[in-house]
Amino acid sequence: MRINKYIAASGIASRRKADELIKNGNVRVNGTALTEPGYEVADGDVVEVNGTPVLPPENKVYILLNKPVGYVTTVKDEGGRPTVMDLVTEVEGRVFPVGRLDVNTSGMLIMTNDGDFAYRVAHPKHKLGKTYRVRVAGIVTRGKLDRLRKGVDIGGFVTSPAEVEIVKELPKETVLEITIHEGKNRQVRKMCKAIDCPVRELERIAIGPVKIGRLATGGYRKLTRQEIDALMGKKQTR
Ligand code: URA
Repeated sequence: MRINKYIAASGIASRRKADELIKNGNVRVNGTALTEPGYEVADGDVVEVNGTPVLPPENKVYILLNKPVGYVTTVKDEGGRPTVMDLVTEVEGRVFPVGRLDVNTSGMLIMTNDGDFAYRVAHPKHKLGKTYRVRVAGIVTRGKLDRLRKGVDIGGFVTSPAEVEIVKELPKETVLEITIHEGKNRQVRKMCKAIDCPVRELERIAIGPVKIGRLATGGYRKLTRQEIDALMGKKQTR
């Protein structure tokens, strides 16, 4: 890998800034100040910028996990409960969860070691819709449906408009699909509680244009290049 790309991929500086560092003699390879801007870094080379070693950039990994109920979305749990980290064992590189699902929520969780990507997917300003399949107690009347769609008070905060569809009406329960564009703590549970239809089961089935599909509970797969681009807003797949 070319030296400027190597430095940029390690998160030290942009490629342009890296070129400047090289030009100014701030970059050493194996103890010698670099003079050649096009230097190709070889395996085993020790690269330093201003005397600080620059570790080889990690390969970027993007995982889509189907989180089961009972797993916490943290790296470590004080109470010793199983965490989502226990599920992604055969991944090259250390990945971290993007955003959070409650311990009692199942479904789609993205895990990655790409900080820029994680920021983009998690940040509400990018307005990536998160879609949930929700089984609630009771009947969701037309009036309640409208309230969910327009926005409900979940305790000092009124939710912004959401897409809500009834998927199934059972004698004493209703299955809904809800897409929200914010990420308040326990938001879907609080929204359903606000219309007196408490959540019995909650599963995230999509983030933006990417769907969980038929991935087994507890299973995971890599995101495709197209899915990564779509989540980054580079291309729309639907
Ligand atoms: N809303 C919730 O209430 N819980 C989740 O885990 C995700 C969204």
